[in-house]
Amino acid sequence: MFKKIMQYAGEYKKYTYQAVIYMLLGLLFHVIQFVFIYRIIHQAIGGGTGWQFYLTQVIAIFICGILYALLYIKGLIKSHYGAYNVLRNLRISLQGKLEKLPLGVIQEMGVGSVKKIFTDDIDSMELMLAHALPEGFSNVCIPLLVYIAMFLVDFKLALLSIASLPIGFIAMMMMYSAGTSKMGAYYESAKKMNDTIVEYVNGMEVVKIFGKDGESYQRFSNDVRSYRDFTLAWYKMCWPWMALYGSFLPCVSLFTLPIGSYFVMTGASTFEHLLMVLCMGFFIGPTILKAMSYMSILPQLNYKITNLEELLDKEPLHHGDKPFTGKDHSISFENVCFSYDGENEVLHHVSMDIGQGKVTAFVGESGSGKSTLAKLLVHFYDVTSGSIKIGGQDIQEMSLENLNNEISFVSQEQFLFNISLLENIRLGKPDATREEVIEAAKKAQCGDFLERLEKGIDSKAGDSGKMLSGGERQRISLARAILKNAPIIVLDEATAFMDPENEDKMNRAIAELIEDKTVIVIAHRLYSIKNADAIAVMEHGECTAMGRHEELLKNSEKYKALWASSEGTRTWGTSNKMEREKGEKRA
Ligand SMILES: Nc1ncnc2c1ncn2[C@@H]1O[C@H](COP(=O)(O)OP(=O)(O)OP(=O)(O)O)[C@@H](O)[C@H]1O
Ligand SMILES: [Mg+2]
Repeated sequence: MFKKIMQYAGEYKKYTYQAVIYMLLGLLFHVIQFVFIYRIIHQAIGGGTGWQFYLTQVIAIFICGILYALLYIKGLIKSHYGAYNVLRNLRISLQGKLEKLPLGVIQEMGVGSVKKIFTDDIDSMELMLAHALPEGFSNVCIPLLVYIAMFLVDFKLALLSIASLPIGFIAMMMMYSAGTSKMGAYYESAKKMNDTIVEYVNGMEVVKIFGKDGESYQRFSNDVRSYRDFTLAWYKMCWPWMALYGSFLPCVSLFTLPIGSYFVMTGASTFEHLLMVLCMGFFIGPTILKAMSYMSILPQLNYKITNLEELLDKEPLHHGDKPFTGKDHSISFENVCFSYDGENEVLHHVSMDIGQGKVTAFVGESGSGKSTLAKLLVHFYDVTSGSIKIGGQDIQEMSLENLNNEISFVSQEQFLFNISLLENIRLGKPDATREEVIEAAKKAQCGDFLERLEKGIDSKAGDSGKMLSGGERQRISLARAILKNAPIIVLDEATAFMDPENEDKMNRAIAELIEDKTVIVIAHRLYSIKNADAIAVMEHGECTAMGRHEELLKNSEKYKALWASSEGTRTWGTSNKMEREKGEKRA
């Protein structure tokens, strides 16, 4: 169980081992105290000696106590230093892993679960690394030593001291197995509650509109209730066993005191030995209990570690580490099939060539697979079969970073980090100067709204960019792409949220951005892509036609229908606008 986690410990592994040594040494001094206690008892019962003897013994006990405390604390410091560094390594490795996973795997897990693994689950490893491992280990070793000493003092009394342990251990094992059987369901309900809470907060807008009785609220309250029920069921199962081992384990004098006293009375043992064994017993009890208390968290830890390992072992995207070596920036989709979930295919044998330096538009009804094609090109997912090549080089050969350098993707769903707008744009080119960022923002028509913001380009974007409107977020994303200036540009509905006036300005900025570049434009408003060099018509995951606007009007029934409905919407919009303007004039 610890093996896998310790792989991530690297150089910090030694701190955990050092912690074990310090704690063992500390506890050893704790045990040595009993030698001096024994000497005091021995002398006192045997008729006593001068006060100097007792004083030296007390001083020795005191020094051992101080050494024990110092070494134990030193051990704890080491174990925590090691543990938190391992947690850091784990989080960094996990982040690296997530970056290489297909997006679908992460989406399937849910934001809540991913967050839970990153924060709560990894944090709980601290308990294992900083406490359970070093403290648990040394708290098991020391009672063993003390028991050996006890046997040397008086084996009959030592046997009596051990007699109560099996009852405690059996109770502990029962609790462990009861806990493990419920742990899966308990953990699942915690995960579900996390996901639902995240979804509930994200969907607050919808919840507010449709009221608390909506399905979302119902799910939220059901999941919270079921988490409560599972937790209580888990505790209910464990409590009796916890009470039993909690009472029996520390109580090593349970049989020693009555039977041991009988031995003393019958002369089978001495009073001196009984006192000594009882003293040792008082030390062993709490130590064993402490060691065993870590046992109770093992089922939980085991489950969390397994989850973490599953995530770390998930198959990453297939990509090589070669640089881009394509002969140009033409793109070819060759017989591409793709399914998000491994069952329902959403792209079927799509083949198309996109010329270097040409503007190619993807059109088609909603759900026809346009965005999916774009996401495959930027390698968010692996194709199920077929291949995608840039300048003749398969994108799977390149590292994600090298591929990323060749493509600017302005996606349909813009995401902004809650950092300044300047930093958000700078993501496109991390070494850009402030002036370059401002220039890109101006080109992307961000000037107007940036002026309105109190801190201008230094204003924060808000959680997921919520401080900005949809159109404003799109312009920031476009500024990012302008700054990046990659040779391939993919614009997925980049102007969908724009009002006509801004769309015009934005189209001019786009025209400047895409000069001499290989461009893929996805658009529902067909008049904006009418002049594209090529238009690919997507229908239910297939590319059914490709050509220029005039050709497609003649050859593709689907394109004709799309064009007619797009024009219809446009003229409807325009005539509505004219009607409105007329009305305003009349008024
Ligand atoms: N993350 C996902 N997981 C599972 N299925 C998905 C996912 N994203 C899209 N799909 C499915 O894949 C199909 C193609 O979706 P895609 O987003 O490519 O369509 P689109 O042509 O871009 O549509 P739109 O014009 O509405 O943006 C749809 O049937 C959709 O339901
Ligand atoms: Mg889309």
